Amino acid sequence: MHQVELTDDEYARFCGLIYRTAGIRIAENKRVMVGNRVRRRLRATGIETFAEYFAYLTSPAGAGEMPDFVDAITTNETYFFRDIHHYRWLGGEFLPEMARRATTPGGAGRTPRRIRIWSAACSTGEEPYSIAIEVFSRRPILAGWDIRILGTDISGQALAAARAGRYDARAVRLAEPARRAAFFDEDSNAGRWVVKPDLRALVEWRAHNLLRPITGGPFDCTFIKNVLIYFDRDSKKVVVRNLVEAMAPGGYLVVGPTEGVFDMLDGLERVQSWLYRKPG
Ligand SMILES: C[S@@+](CC[C@H](N)C(=O)[O-])C[C@H]1O[C@@H](n2cnc3c(N)ncnc32)[C@H](O)[C@@H]1O
Repeated sequence: MHQVELTDDEYARFCGLIYRTAGIRIAENKRVMVGNRVRRRLRATGIETFAEYFAYLTSPAGAGEMPDFVDAITTNETYFFRDIHHYRWLGGEFLPEMARRATTPGGAGRTPRRIRIWSAACSTGEEPYSIAIEVFSRRPILAGWDIRILGTDISGQALAAARAGRYDARAVRLAEPARRAAFFDEDSNAGRWVVKPDLRALVEWRAHNLLRPITGGPFDCTFIKNVLIYFDRDSKKVVVRNLVEAMAPGGYLVVGPTEGVFDMLDGLERVQSWLYRKPG
């Protein structure tokens, strides 16, 4: 029989640990939610009490448990083409602009013709695959370009699901039927939509904590959506600094509606309430 509720002290200790590890500040009224989520880890590890689990988690022997603890606490909700206007902009404006820049005399004159896009906190992969669908749909104007999309998340389980690329009908509900047919194999027995290899080939996956700088940039476009709502101001500032440092001059930042970082983006030009550009 597992312990029923977190004590005040236990709740504070788990919240402190998730804050130090992932930058996530859990609200004071989330004790039941945190208790339920940690209890899943008690069941999985066969540990009886929250106190023993905390001791294990913070001991050298429990180092391997930390990613599963973070997974249990974080929220991975996502779906294809969430905030559809972001994808309309990507396919309809950003990619054509990149194509134009390369051909305009005095433009960036990029050789090789290259685009790097980062989906930061990509969860189970719907966001980077949606980006990849826009890229694929714009192939005619980007023939011969070297285009890579990087999907990163702190959660190993979320990344494993992203790599598997199998989605239920709910996840793909905003993808038009023609796109579903073009970019997924339907496993109708299992009610799953499986991402086709061509699309997979555009995306790389990597475990990454937003509190740390990223390698592999600079990025011409970065998506940061539906993750910073749980971060406090100090952590948000660290994340924003890491994101902006990794942006290419002239690169774009697509910001989700709940990030709460708009007053931290003063080094960037505001294009839309959700879209920022790095000068240069
Ligand atoms: C709700 S999902 C957002 C997915 C996608 N960006 C979207 O908007 O649909 C939030 C993701 O942020 C991840 N996350 C939370 N803290 C993180 C951190 N410190 N570094 C990287 N990823 C983090 C979680 O694991 C989760 O997968």
